[in-house]
Amino acid sequence: MIVSAQKAAELIREGQVVAIPTETVYGLAADATNIQAVRHIFELKGRPPDNPLIVHVAEINQVASFTDDRPDILFKLIDRFWPGPLTFVLSKKASVLDIITAGLDTVALRMPDHPKALSVIKKTGPVAAPSANRSGRPSPTRPEHITLDFGDDLPVIDGGPCSIGLESTVLDLSGYIPTILRPGKITADQIEDMLDIKVLREPAGENQIRRSPGTRYSHYKPNASVSWMSSIESIRSYQPDTLYIFHTQSPKITDDNIITFEGNYLDFAKSLYDLYRTADKRNYKKIFIEPLPDTTLSPIIPALLNRIQRSVSH
Ligand code: TXA
Ligand code: MG
Repeated sequence: MIVSAQKAAELIREGQVVAIPTETVYGLAADATNIQAVRHIFELKGRPPDNPLIVHVAEINQVASFTDDRPDILFKLIDRFWPGPLTFVLSKKASVLDIITAGLDTVALRMPDHPKALSVIKKTGPVAAPSANRSGRPSPTRPEHITLDFGDDLPVIDGGPCSIGLESTVLDLSGYIPTILRPGKITADQIEDMLDIKVLREPAGENQIRRSPGTRYSHYKPNASVSWMSSIESIRSYQPDTLYIFHTQSPKITDDNIITFEGNYLDFAKSLYDLYRTADKRNYKKIFIEPLPDTTLSPIIPALLNRIQRSVSH
């Protein structure tokens, strides 16, 4: 059910869960100080309780309610990238609800770059918000994706299609070396260039699971099986129950199951989850994606590669 930002703020203050738009994907938001409301997010999503949530703020001074961490680089990064698709993992204050952090000693914080999200959070105070999909499903980038997963009873603010379409970069600043736990539109290269420091691309092995619980779960999966296209498949005849996604090649035939982005990787990222859901709506069995090239072609490629790789059927 579509609600105004004003109504959404009232509902959140009453302890309800509301889907809000952000520039990355829609989030399922609840008052970050209300344990029942946050518990309701986990129930609605079917989310494992050991996977923590990101707290979304609308003002920089709200950060101080969640962490005492003040690494030198934090405010430089905030200055440059907030509001925007960059989430910081920092040591948490004792007062932060354990249900939000899944019992970890760190908390994830981000200021989303969407006028409706910011207007709601200014009225309610910080909200805990995971992506507004059922656990394991593709993140929602349009209001109708949320209704598909949760039905029409869930209140949703219509903020239009998300402009980025992939989840934020998660940067862990709680350890000795800044570490990207999840790639997003803001890249390790950008952060390194700006601060002249080394940023780790991903934590290794066991440590990764300890620091980034989300990475242990299967994610972003449509019903159709996702595979990288081999060159043979790309020249075989096109099957009507398959979605074909190209980004460099231009196939000779056009049909509504053949999509081409012609080098526009930002458009590809913005459309990926919507294409996954379109394939499901049409009962397609397979999705073939042209393998992604060298990551330097576009800064969004590491994030695209990460999300597609995690949705590939094994
Ligand atoms: O763009 C986004 O980040 C979207 C929008 C709604 O803001 N949110 C989002 O939330 O993608 P979610 O819950 O789907 O993903 C949050 C990720 C998970 O991988 C989770 O494990 C990680 O952030 N995370 C949250 N708190 C953490 C913490 N304290 N330490 C390490 N990872 C954390
Ligand atoms: Mg998610």
